[in-house]
Amino acid sequence: MKQICVIGVGYVGLVTAACFADLGNRVVALDVDRQRVENLKKGIMPIYEPGLEELVKRNTKGGRLSFTTSYAEALKGAEFAFIAVGTPSGVDGNADLQYVDAAARSIAQNMTVPLIIINKSTVPIGTGDWVADIVKSAQPKPIDFAVVSCPEFLREGSAIGDFMSPHRNVIGSLDKDAANKVAQLHLPLRSPIVITDLRTAEMIKYASNAFLATKISFMNELADLCELVGADVKEVAAGMGYDARIGRHFLDAGLGWGGSCFPKDVEALAYMAKEKGLNPRILHQVMEVNYDRRKAVVGHLEKLLNGSLQGKAIGLLGLAFKPNTDDMRDAPSIDISNSLLAAGANVRGYDPVARRIAAPLMPAVEIFDDVYKMAQGCDALVVVTEWNEFKQLDLEKVKGLLKCPVIYDGRNIYDPAALKTMGFTYRAIGRGFNGH
Ligand code: UDX
Ligand code: UDX
Repeated sequence: MKQICVIGVGYVGLVTAACFADLGNRVVALDVDRQRVENLKKGIMPIYEPGLEELVKRNTKGGRLSFTTSYAEALKGAEFAFIAVGTPSGVDGNADLQYVDAAARSIAQNMTVPLIIINKSTVPIGTGDWVADIVKSAQPKPIDFAVVSCPEFLREGSAIGDFMSPHRNVIGSLDKDAANKVAQLHLPLRSPIVITDLRTAEMIKYASNAFLATKISFMNELADLCELVGADVKEVAAGMGYDARIGRHFLDAGLGWGGSCFPKDVEALAYMAKEKGLNPRILHQVMEVNYDRRKAVVGHLEKLLNGSLQGKAIGLLGLAFKPNTDDMRDAPSIDISNSLLAAGANVRGYDPVARRIAAPLMPAVEIFDDVYKMAQGCDALVVVTEWNEFKQLDLEKVKGLLKCPVIYDGRNIYDPAALKTMGFTYRAIGRGFNGH
């Protein structure tokens, strides 16, 4: 059993804290948000993540997991302190490190015994060294510490599984002893462990996310060509994926990537390259291809509806940036609804869990709590997020409710032939042969 402190109980911090507690460690999780901490003490989760509530409750009950707003309490006796605060995009595209700065200073002022400080948040290359400088200068009296980078690779919606069965854990530090201690902490996970220096570890995180985003943008560009030449991008992806050099994951064409990580990480990596005098051409194109997916929806709907969207009712199936989360950060639904509204459409939306969080972000969109109620009288539906619930909709019923039986399937969840047979005007992404 190790004593661990986790700073920040958002999507990453809370999963990290609960999982380390479940592995038998004693974890104190800290957040500066008092309400969040009070709620967690009562078993109320700040986010929707499958399996998290049960994990938090079990470990809180077992005395391995507790919550506080006090750094002194969180650090008391801790050997490890994970920093998992947010690192959003700043105004110029670089990561905003004000929360990491605040966490580092508070650690320095409250630590009483030697400590290994671990950056879990995604931070620009060189941040580990910067954190070390902050801690050193903010300590009231010198106490030994080491800074280690251990980036997160948790996908929202499957974060607990990703934590417990990781593809790898990356641990970066120039302090070999500290790196080995962090490696020990991860041994129960039986994953490959890559031990490297701080800056390389920080780069591995950006490189991984940027590469995954590149795979998706590549497939999206290919999807447009598939449509025009009569190929089916889903089958193309399946055929490519058998090649181990390519891999079968992250080849799904659709409305593109969003969320709390890919957009800010690709942008921050491009910013770092530019700052060093490079021209990150691929990264720029990866972003451009991605954001064009969202802009193109209006044009596709105009074609399907044979004219302007003025006064047309368009229903969005799914608002969260991906299924199994309530996260709306850089969700494609926001840009898509804005462009539909600008084109004169009346926009409606439904999401199984993100409705409450989505509503204030899209005040001009009518949010429904029932998918069939939303469909009633719509001129077209757009599949924005591939929630399982939508895969098994009663499509005959939906057809009866729609003003026009039009579906634009932005996530390729339906069988084009089946929908055509049912009498839908159906358009999928990149499915030239089957779709038209
Ligand atoms: C994380 C990482 O930090 C980010 O770098 C990574 O790329 C994605 O995941 P996430 O868990 O999604 O961020 O952030 P968020 O859900 O916003 O949670 C951050 C938490 O830190 C919040 O609860 C916030 O209140 C807390 N916080 C913030 C602190 O405790 N201290 C601060 O100084 C600032
Ligand atoms: C990502 C990383 O995958 C994870 O390792 C961590 O660094 C946090 O960021 P997350 O953003 O939660 O995870 O979800 P992910 O499953 O990676 O999806 C990101 C976006 O890509 C979503 O908008 C999703 O819809 C989109 N996507 C994903 C596709 O469009 N096609 C795909 O084939 C896969």
